[in-house]
Amino acid sequence: MLEKGVALEPSLVVGSIVGKKTFYITTPIYYVNDIPHIGHSYTTIAADTLARYKRMRDYDVFFLTGTDEHGQKIEKAAKLNNENPIELADRMVERFQNLWRILDISNDDFIRTTEDRHVKQVQNAFEKMYENGDIYLGEYEGWYCIPCESFWTSMQLSSNNCPECGRSVEKIREKNYFFRLSKYQDLLLEYFEKHPDFIKPESRRNELYRRIVGGIDDISVSRAAVEWGVHVPMDDEHTIYVWVDALFNYITALGLDDSAKLKKYWPANVHIIGKEILWFHGVIWPAMLMSLGIEVPYQVFAHGWWTLEGKKISKSLGNAIDPIEITETYGVDAYRYFLLREVPFGLDGNFSYEAMVNRINCDLGNDLGNLLHRTLTMIEKYCDGIVPEHEGSLSMEGKELIERSAKLNDEVDHAMSNLQFSRALESIWDYIGLVNRYVEISKPWVLAKELSERNKLNEVLYNLAESIRIISSFILPFMPNVAAEMYNQLGLSSGEEPVESDFTWGGMRPGTKVCKGSPIFPKFEHPIVN
Ligand code: MSP
Repeated sequence: MLEKGVALEPSLVVGSIVGKKTFYITTPIYYVNDIPHIGHSYTTIAADTLARYKRMRDYDVFFLTGTDEHGQKIEKAAKLNNENPIELADRMVERFQNLWRILDISNDDFIRTTEDRHVKQVQNAFEKMYENGDIYLGEYEGWYCIPCESFWTSMQLSSNNCPECGRSVEKIREKNYFFRLSKYQDLLLEYFEKHPDFIKPESRRNELYRRIVGGIDDISVSRAAVEWGVHVPMDDEHTIYVWVDALFNYITALGLDDSAKLKKYWPANVHIIGKEILWFHGVIWPAMLMSLGIEVPYQVFAHGWWTLEGKKISKSLGNAIDPIEITETYGVDAYRYFLLREVPFGLDGNFSYEAMVNRINCDLGNDLGNLLHRTLTMIEKYCDGIVPEHEGSLSMEGKELIERSAKLNDEVDHAMSNLQFSRALESIWDYIGLVNRYVEISKPWVLAKELSERNKLNEVLYNLAESIRIISSFILPFMPNVAAEMYNQLGLSSGEEPVESDFTWGGMRPGTKVCKGSPIFPKFEHPIVN
């Protein structure tokens, strides 16, 4: 589904793909004035899961994340701390990178907007837009929200505050450079119409489309009063508006000027973002790319917010939850699973420890952990720990397992192509349910009592081991450590790169020695109260 977009100008066609299909996926780059909390980890875990999944499907994946380090908000936060903005950034970047290590994030690059490779290319892009007449000098009079780094008109304010976050705004009157966003109104509308999948979910796409139809004004793209930023190349008095600076990270990380990486991976297949920054990604970003004659990304997916008692989780609202603390108690994979299973991607969801503990105990412990443990116990008890061979035709139930595994393959692929993580997990858990019922119906412990039922017992135990191997492969992108542990216990060689054929029936070789360990999910008796 997430195919590459269509070039705007044939001369600038990029992304010629030789060999493997490419898949370029990004997260927002996070502000360094904030400590990483569950909201940031949600987007990054979702992107990581899709990146891992696509790698298994044999795509050449480029997965980018990073930090947004310029602007008034960072300048102000550093001042309050009595340090230079770069000192603050250096400290905070560590925290983000450390969290991504803990959460097993498999990003291929990490971009910081203070890096030279970024700064120079942002200046080049700005200069090109100035030269082609899309950036001009004007005067801005209006309001600015520092936490959102957003400009507002008086009409847009809500009770004199920022309409986005409700906090106070400051009046600005200064000479600014402007970007001719209004010029792109028709082109944007046309792009939206020709690419119905450009913005997802659809309801957000429609909302944005209506906003563009309603009219768009030129936007201010420089700040005279902000020192901490990328300097406007033709006017050192100004710094480039932090959102313009930030959006370009998606291509500066690849190399804007004639880079092999850019040719290979651009346009991005999907920018995963939170819903509050859709205007920047769905309107300003494509318009600037159009101005530069660069292809527009194939898709922007705006997911919902994690809330706590109805309020968006964020440090500034004082309700941030530290992902490291959660993972120390409940485990990294359980946390990854919970976030993607609990709420359909695109909707808001309320975070609760109770819901998380339920998921861990029921879905992970009872459904999955027990299936693995009891299967391996039976293989040890009845077959000396060796996955058995069997002869002859399959039972009806055995055939159903195989057929349903093929269906699962299609369902998961469809769900993942549409970023429906929770739906993919539902399908996997339906299959786990089927395999659990297969154990109950087949009753290996009864078959084991009769020598004449030996072949049937072997068939059942083989089918169980093979089903669990398939399940491990499907959960790998979501829970890489659990999948590795399941592979280990199944006696399958670890260390090999997962491949697409892992998803199809028949990978388990009879004669494999299993290696049962302790149950992989501990039970949690009492949820810790929020
Ligand atoms: N620096 C900008 C993004 C620039 S991208 C070119 C920014 N940074 S941020 O640090 O505020 O991160 C915002 C993003 O973090 C959201 O868009 C979302 O991906 C994630 N989340 C932060 N809080 C969140 C929730 N409470 N719930 C879900 N995700 C949220 O905006």
